[in-house]
Amino acid sequence: MSEGLVTVSYIAATILFILALGGLSDQEKARRGNLFGMIGMAIAIVATVSGNQVTGALSYAILVMTMTAGAWVGLQLARRVEMTQMPELVAILHSLVGMAAVLVGYANFMDPGATFSGVEKTIHEVEIYIGILIGAVTFSGSVIAFGKLSGKISGTPVLLPARHWLNLGLLILTIWFGSLFVAGAAEGGGTLPLMLMTLIALAFGVHMVMAIGGADMPVVVSMLNSYSGWAAAATGFMLSNDLLIVVGALVGSSGAILSYIMCRAMNRNFIAVIAGGFGTDTSSSGGGPAAEITGEVVPIDAEGTANLLDAAKEVMIVPGYGMAVAQAQHSVNEITKTLRAKGVTVRFGIHPVAGRMPGHMNVLLAEAKVPYDIVFEMDEINDDFPNVDVSLIIGANDIVNPSAQGDPNSPIAGMPVLEVWKGRTTIVLKRSMASGYAGVGNPLFVKENTRMLFGDAKDSLEAVLKELGNG
Ligand code: TAP
Repeated sequence: MSEGLVTVSYIAATILFILALGGLSDQEKARRGNLFGMIGMAIAIVATVSGNQVTGALSYAILVMTMTAGAWVGLQLARRVEMTQMPELVAILHSLVGMAAVLVGYANFMDPGATFSGVEKTIHEVEIYIGILIGAVTFSGSVIAFGKLSGKISGTPVLLPARHWLNLGLLILTIWFGSLFVAGAAEGGGTLPLMLMTLIALAFGVHMVMAIGGADMPVVVSMLNSYSGWAAAATGFMLSNDLLIVVGALVGSSGAILSYIMCRAMNRNFIAVIAGGFGTDTSSSGGGPAAEITGEVVPIDAEGTANLLDAAKEVMIVPGYGMAVAQAQHSVNEITKTLRAKGVTVRFGIHPVAGRMPGHMNVLLAEAKVPYDIVFEMDEINDDFPNVDVSLIIGANDIVNPSAQGDPNSPIAGMPVLEVWKGRTTIVLKRSMASGYAGVGNPLFVKENTRMLFGDAKDSLEAVLKELGNG
């Protein structure tokens, strides 16, 4: 393929990627957005493989073998991974982008492919250094995020003494090694400072994510998403591949915007979260111990729930991570249809960090074909709870925890939550009194107007459906 044709293909792919991102911001256009992304990626791969950077039968043979192996692994993952495992899959995939940037950086350092001199050479070395730095932080940070999201590593923040000074020290060392690397590389050396910086960057990635508390993980996931974009852009610079630079910048900036949105949704300061330590630290709480939760738990059965729903005019459904675990979205849709057929107004309230990834609940509800026009964001419906007769909390916990507002010592103090307790009756569907992702107790469960429907959310909903006369 001629260079001109490759450039045209790259421009077409870039436009498709932008359309894909635009489509993904709206549930109804998300499918089309995904399709644009897939076509864009296919064009990008064909153009790159048939461009003049790949030459010789051996290169093609290696490419075919590695792409077949990669496609096979991807297909298996797509088939096997449960919806509840998606966040950790995304985290581990980010780590691969980081690792690729590190490997490309070292390969480029050992064999630049072209000879550079003067300023160009320095720029090339800085590209390599920064590319490896971002790649290594992304790699180790994502591996730890994978561990935390999959429950292999505890969600409790690990706070080293004087950790901010430690981070500052590591940053200064990184800059110093950078100057040694550029000076050393000019004299044919530079390997040692490069390797030491890689070790520091790996340690920094681990330290950064280990210090972040459970409820702040959403910000970390979107931040690592952003880092993986910048790591890809850095790889693009090293390989002089314009498309990779553009795509990396798209992912990097959209991830950064998402992190900002997440921080706003959680009422957190972005810099404070990435500096680590929110979650149990005094920085987010009043400094004292969290209030003890005392009170009586009032259980309810499926029949009682069905009676309350039958008598209600306004029902608000608040889904959380437990709905994903129970795969209860289809039963939720059945209940919704049944109640609406009886003339009950049913709406959904979605918290921005419900579940384990951005848009988690929206994806599940869309899969079950819940109409989009009854699904509302937290800000749109939070003032309406005083008019709600029954709120059904389906496997949600942290996002409906009143102590975020009422207890300044709670680790989640300040995080906006759905004010379900302001409705007439709240019914919480969960299996036990266990805490949610942030590991904090929830006084909602002992409020006077709360009833607990214990059991797997799907089983409970099916029993309620039966009682409603439709099972
Ligand atoms: P959580 O606070 O994690 O609570 C989920 C609840 O679901 C648990 O208390 C659990 O109680 C219940 N549950 C689990 N399996 C169930 C089943 N089969 N049937 C019924 N209930 C079940 O979830 P949430 O309220 O959605 O809040 C999300 C949390 O995750 C926040 O802390 C957020 O910061 C964090 N987080 C979010 C993201 C994103 S981007 N959304 C990413 C990482 C972390 P039982 O065990 O008693 O059943």
